[in-house]
Amino acid sequence: MQNVILTGDRPTGKLHLGHYVGSLHNRVEMQNSGKFDKIFIMIADAQALTDNADDVNKVKTNISNVALDYLSCGIDPEKSTILIQSQIPELCELSFYYMNLVTVSRLQRNPTVKTEIQMRGFKQSIPTGFFCYPISQAADITAFKANTVPVGEDQLPMIEQTREIVRSFNSLYKEVLVEPRAVLPTNSKCARLPGTDGQAKMSKSLGNCIYISDTPDEIKKKVHNMFTDPTHLRVEDPGHTKNNPVFIYLDAFCEDKHFAEFLPEYANLQEMKAHYERGGLGDGKVKKFLTAILQAELEPVLKRRQEFEKDLGAVFEMLRVGSEKAREVAAQTLDDVKTAMGINYFGKNKL
Ligand code: TRP
Repeated sequence: MQNVILTGDRPTGKLHLGHYVGSLHNRVEMQNSGKFDKIFIMIADAQALTDNADDVNKVKTNISNVALDYLSCGIDPEKSTILIQSQIPELCELSFYYMNLVTVSRLQRNPTVKTEIQMRGFKQSIPTGFFCYPISQAADITAFKANTVPVGEDQLPMIEQTREIVRSFNSLYKEVLVEPRAVLPTNSKCARLPGTDGQAKMSKSLGNCIYISDTPDEIKKKVHNMFTDPTHLRVEDPGHTKNNPVFIYLDAFCEDKHFAEFLPEYANLQEMKAHYERGGLGDGKVKKFLTAILQAELEPVLKRRQEFEKDLGAVFEMLRVGSEKAREVAAQTLDDVKTAMGINYFGKNKL
């Protein structure tokens, strides 16, 4: 069996550091590992529309933002196919047949959908398309016969739902679909970065994100304003490093080499944390250190982005070619699916 990756993002905003540690970095490593036969990365604009029907323009403008985020982080179109979901109509057809394999109550129990319904305050007014998006996501994954789906933790219920659909389909009709497995980022301690304000999640609407595309100045400002330990009032006070966003970010990004380069008075993060907890280490100094690390990490990313921005035409062409290539694969799967169901009337299943 081939090793195939399918993963994706909704283009509702620029991607931020949460995406970077939670999935992008991992994807680039998987891409460059040489272990995969095919890699598909989907800009899920149709899924984004399930709760943004009144703001098509937002979704549209963010397609190029997300494409640039991918390219600047090292997704290489020679190795990974980047595609736009809405340009693959076969996905809608697959979804339509999968809908018959999923009950309403099963969708209602999907934990991710439940949380999102609450977060969006839909109450009883849930758009049907939104309610059904786990089914459409199953179509995304199975259309490419992906066996590997690198995602963040919040997406695990989606993969589970996909696996159930695959099992139902294969047992009801014929073994044509591949059961996928989720791959979580290996650095699980930092799979979830809080917002710079200490809120559990980075979110554009809360204005608490550091974006992958931020300039060194923006990074500096945002880290400077970051929430830290509210009980650490004076430098000499003992401080907490747990649940302290600045230290959570350091857990995610800091390596020993950064001390040698930017703050040689400590050998490693443990020593620095011990000093903070003892008292005598000011937040300003810790933030300055984090700023230097993030600037160093994101500088090459920003440089690459600026290069790609010089020729947006080439980026659009890459998306067009990627979508076309992906469509061929999805069309083949749809054909297999219809044949397995026995509804390929003008093909293998004559009336
Ligand atoms: N639901 C994913 C998110 O919100 C985006 C997505 C759409 C996706 N289709 C996918 C992720 C298929 C993995 C596989 O981020």
